Amino acid sequence: MKEKITTIKIAKMKSDGEKIAALTAYDYTSAKILDKGGIDLILVGDSAANVFAGYDYTIKISMDEMLYHTRAVKNGTERALIIADMPFLSYQCGTDDAVKNAGNFLKAGASAVKLEGGKAITDIVKKLVDTGIPVMGHIGLTPQSVHKLGGYALHGSTPEAEEKLIEDALALEDAGAFSIVLEKIVSKCAKKITEKVKIPTIGIGAGKYCDGQILVYTDMLGLNKEFHPKFVHIYADIYNSMMSAFKNYIKDVKEQKFPSENETYT
Ligand code: KIV
Repeated sequence: MKEKITTIKIAKMKSDGEKIAALTAYDYTSAKILDKGGIDLILVGDSAANVFAGYDYTIKISMDEMLYHTRAVKNGTERALIIADMPFLSYQCGTDDAVKNAGNFLKAGASAVKLEGGKAITDIVKKLVDTGIPVMGHIGLTPQSVHKLGGYALHGSTPEAEEKLIEDALALEDAGAFSIVLEKIVSKCAKKITEKVKIPTIGIGAGKYCDGQILVYTDMLGLNKEFHPKFVHIYADIYNSMMSAFKNYIKDVKEQKFPSENETYT
């Protein structure tokens, strides 16, 4: 088995100048393929709300659902670092709840948790880190605050917004976070943040200067025909492969071509 990826190894990748490759996963089968493919970091993202459960907002996913996804991903993963996304209201209500919920993600098989927010959540981050729970921060577009933000707009495009993001990143680093996701941030601003903090930045829609990149795996496989933001590169057309396989199966059943002799016990 190849060397297991740890938060320490992720930090070293930044100092060694090695880019970090990350993707989301929500189930055993896709985690297994990702892990065998050599991914460094698997995020059990609360994007499971959208792409797995079909909810309209990530805030609708529960602790129990996220724990189920985390256990499934753990069962398929040997090498990659697993990070579980803490769902809405599982850490904002107080540090005691945050510790208990984050601890349950570690018991489910994650090695770290991810929280959305900057300066405003540093007390919680510090408490988790002091308890022995590694934390990944997440700033820029934070989908759990979609109703406050008023949508999924680009971040860091004014000098004031840039300054605030840099302060948030430095505050997360000070609180002990081992890395930070930068979501939908102008590339120039993401570059400045990446240069200012010693911990790795993992970008999604934040340009090429981040220390690593993450995408939602169903987006990069082209599984969602209705959602194609500029920052997603589509690496395979799995939607059309699945559609044609399903249609062929239906046709074969109707025309009594399946099962054939090959698929029959005699
Ligand atoms: O939930 C998620 O998939 C995420 C990534 C977009 C970083 O938070």
